[in-house]
Amino acid sequence: MGTQLRFMPEQASTIAADVDHLLYFFLAVSIFFTLLIFGAIFYFAIRYRRRSPNELPAAEHTGLALEIVWSVIPFGLTMIMFGWGASIFFKESRPPDNAMQIYVVGKQWMWKLQHMEGQREINELHIPINRPVRLTMTSEDVIHSFFVPDFRTKQDVVPGRYTTTWFEATKPGKYHLFCAEYCGTKHSGMIGWVYAMEPQDYAEWLAGGPTGSMADAGARLFDDLACGNCHKTDTNGRCPNLVGVFGSTVRLAGGGTVRADEAYIRESILDPDAKVVEGYQPLMPTFQGQITEEGVVQLIEYIKSLSPKPGTLIQQNGPLVPSSEPAAAGASPGQLPSGNQ
Ligand code: CUA
Repeated sequence: MGTQLRFMPEQASTIAADVDHLLYFFLAVSIFFTLLIFGAIFYFAIRYRRRSPNELPAAEHTGLALEIVWSVIPFGLTMIMFGWGASIFFKESRPPDNAMQIYVVGKQWMWKLQHMEGQREINELHIPINRPVRLTMTSEDVIHSFFVPDFRTKQDVVPGRYTTTWFEATKPGKYHLFCAEYCGTKHSGMIGWVYAMEPQDYAEWLAGGPTGSMADAGARLFDDLACGNCHKTDTNGRCPNLVGVFGSTVRLAGGGTVRADEAYIRESILDPDAKVVEGYQPLMPTFQGQITEEGVVQLIEYIKSLSPKPGTLIQQNGPLVPSSEPAAAGASPGQLPSGNQ
């Protein structure tokens, strides 16, 4: 980061520097034109003041050159603002492929976070610096908003869907986490801290957590809910085989296709009849009310772990075994199974 031009002490995240530089540009343009306009007002007020009670102003004609100049310059400036702002917006809305994944569930009135390695936190988030972190977020009740001012990161967290954001912390420290959407009585108490740590400190912190990845937790849930009774890998003809599903394109009964992403899997668990896979009957019961949003994302991670990384062969006839080898993919964040971005 050292060679980068900075107007301020080192920022807490990579996006923070981008956002601030854009903001300084807005500020500089605003100050310049404020001074120019007010200066002109005072100058003209004095220069063209009425000098006698019955003085009549001379007729003036529009200067075409002047009109063009003061149209083209603001147009150019606003286009710079638009292009610059849009490029930051696009950067902020596209997590890098190597980002580590963290799941966030907001509820009245707390933040619940899960790491791929199995660590779970409430109102605290530990992350390593110099590594992009992607958040996949949903809410159990109403709209919340995940806001870390030092990272210049704010993203709505909406019930019934997954929203994502990402950031890359650049400086170790403790940063405020807020809920930035009024969500009821204790909205103001829905706060916490993000701890950005040196990579080795983060590794130590992770090692102090529970054993068993998030995909393992999902595998246990898969067992507890007896999903495996029907979703077997040896095709029994009643339920789709889940191996390799994540990230693939699924053909639906009645025509059409859908990409098997997080939202599709969540919908298939909570509202199985919404999209029925081609060649299958709508037999699956809903799990609405039997599983929390945290459980749903664990199941998603388990199902992701059944999709091999590109280039790996799929064992079509093997048993659907929880954890062990495929889940190891979930244990190394940054190597998420492909196709989920
Ligand atoms: Cu959650 Cu405000």
